[in-house]
Amino acid sequence: MTTDVPRCTPYRVAAETWLVPRLVPAGEAGFVPVNSMVVTGEQPVLVDTGALIHADAWREDVFGIVEPEDVRWIFLSHEDMDHMGNLATALEMCPNATLVTDFGAWQRMSVHTPVPPHRMRWLNPGERLDLGDRTLQAILPPQFDAPTTRGFVDTATGVMWAADAFGAPTPGEIHEQGDLPPGLWDEVFMPFNSMSNPWHGWLDADRYGRHLDELAALPVKVAASCHGPVLREDGLADAYLKAHAMAGAPVVPAPGQPVLDEILAAAGLHEPVRV
Ligand SMILES: [Fe+2]
Ligand SMILES: [Fe+2]
Repeated sequence: MTTDVPRCTPYRVAAETWLVPRLVPAGEAGFVPVNSMVVTGEQPVLVDTGALIHADAWREDVFGIVEPEDVRWIFLSHEDMDHMGNLATALEMCPNATLVTDFGAWQRMSVHTPVPPHRMRWLNPGERLDLGDRTLQAILPPQFDAPTTRGFVDTATGVMWAADAFGAPTPGEIHEQGDLPPGLWDEVFMPFNSMSNPWHGWLDADRYGRHLDELAALPVKVAASCHGPVLREDGLADAYLKAHAMAGAPVVPAPGQPVLDEILAAAGLHEPVRV
């Protein structure tokens, strides 16, 4: 089982756009990325806020790229804790920042992280946020595991933030899909994304295909996400094809008790209680 977690450093995805990569151990699969992003430029944006377990490294990396008082926006794709883990810190450290979220996420996070209305801007899919030198067009990502999820396309750079879509484990600090070991992407795409998006089994391929086609028609040059590699050109086209192929396909079963037994045994903790 992998235990040494690489200390990733910010990775330039496009002009004025930095992926803030983090990894969490995932046993035999290696690591699962838990990324966030920073867009600098006229009105700097934090894109998601990482996980709480990475608080120190997240702060160090993000505020090594942009000064807290210069941050104008915090774009939260959704309120899952791997995306909003450091939101309270970000709002506190960045007094000039407005949280870009939506009604549903605000409601859902209100039970643990209430955000005052005057610190927010709500943005729904299809709506745009003007940042002076760029516009963020909100999108419903191709795949998502929370109903409140929004991604965006940055009109200045063609960067898409795909949130939870197009995930894949990685053997280490590898950020580009084209740099993954041969065959890995093809092998892991379906099982990994089936677990996050089990609704794919109900999908009508034609109707879902129209959503993917609309996204694929946007002026996107590169897609970055929380849990997957950076996708460009052929890699992005392939991700759309793979997602489309999941429509109506049987859902991959999640690991069950035998896997937990293995984890317990490997850690030498105790014999599992059987009922
Ligand atoms: Fe999520
Ligand atoms: Fe996530």
